[in-house]
Amino acid sequence: MKKKWLALSMALAFAGTSSLLHAEGDSDAGKGKSAPCISCHGEQGNSMVSTFPKLAQQHASYLTKQLHDFKAGVRKDPMMSTIAMNLSDADMEDIAAYFAEQKISVNALPVLDDEDDNAKTDEAAMQAMIAQGADLYRNGDLAREVSACIACHGPLGEGNKPAAFPALKSQHADYLIKALSDFKSDKRSNKPDNMMHMIAKKMTIEEIKAVSYRISMMNN
Ligand code: HEC
Ligand code: HEC
Repeated sequence: MKKKWLALSMALAFAGTSSLLHAEGDSDAGKGKSAPCISCHGEQGNSMVSTFPKLAQQHASYLTKQLHDFKAGVRKDPMMSTIAMNLSDADMEDIAAYFAEQKISVNALPVLDDEDDNAKTDEAAMQAMIAQGADLYRNGDLAREVSACIACHGPLGEGNKPAAFPALKSQHADYLIKALSDFKSDKRSNKPDNMMHMIAKKMTIEEIKAVSYRISMMNN
């Protein structure tokens, strides 16, 4: 009997600590709090504008980290910085828990933007770029010291929840291209410990596009 009480009180003590630290957000509360985000990030976090990131199915740990970074001014964006300013730690965790539970939408095959207007050759060229991107994602580029994305973002683009490495699969290609270009130019976060800087700096614009098109089509 005594043992049972001990176990129960310990369980209660742990439950108390975790709610104090807000380890996990409340997704029901997050649903209501995410109303102002819908105009840009879409219903259930599937944005319709290709330069606005989808938030659906993203790891809560990563979403919370980004919101803290916007609030602290480490990551800068004219739209997001002011929005994050008004969120408390609990708001961030609740909203992140809500978006993490949503399902990300699938993308259509990107269309190559060139002048010849030949749909057939354009589609073949796009498929070739996607194959090049798949190779880079999986194997990196040894000669130019670009790390394989798979090591941190996973074989299916699912990311790594405990490490707060973002899921990338089915993200908009245009947003991915922007994010990688911003890492390359130091526009996004100048923290030296941000591994994406080193990686993006070694990538060509061609490689950035190819890998982004590939990732946008990952949907398993
Ligand atoms: C006026 C449009 C707008 C609104 C409203 C908005 N966002 Fe954003 N958000 C953006 C844009 C644009 C970016 C991409 C910034 C960049 O390119 O670095 C972004 C990026 C983010 C990111 C980073 C995603 C990633 O993959 O790195 C998070 C998290 C985020 N927003 C959360 C929110 C939340 C939560 C709300 C509501 C409280 C919200 N946003 C409202 C425009 C908006
Ligand atoms: C050593 C681990 C590591 C490797 C390898 C890596 N990444 Fe990342 N990546 C990260 C981390 C960590 C972040 C989040 C950075 C932050 O907090 O802003 C990230 C962020 C990103 C983002 C931004 C996502 C968003 O929603 O804004 C993109 C895009 C990205 N990585 C693409 C790639 C590609 C493409 C490769 C391969 C060429 C790659 N990464 C290799 C760790 C890695």
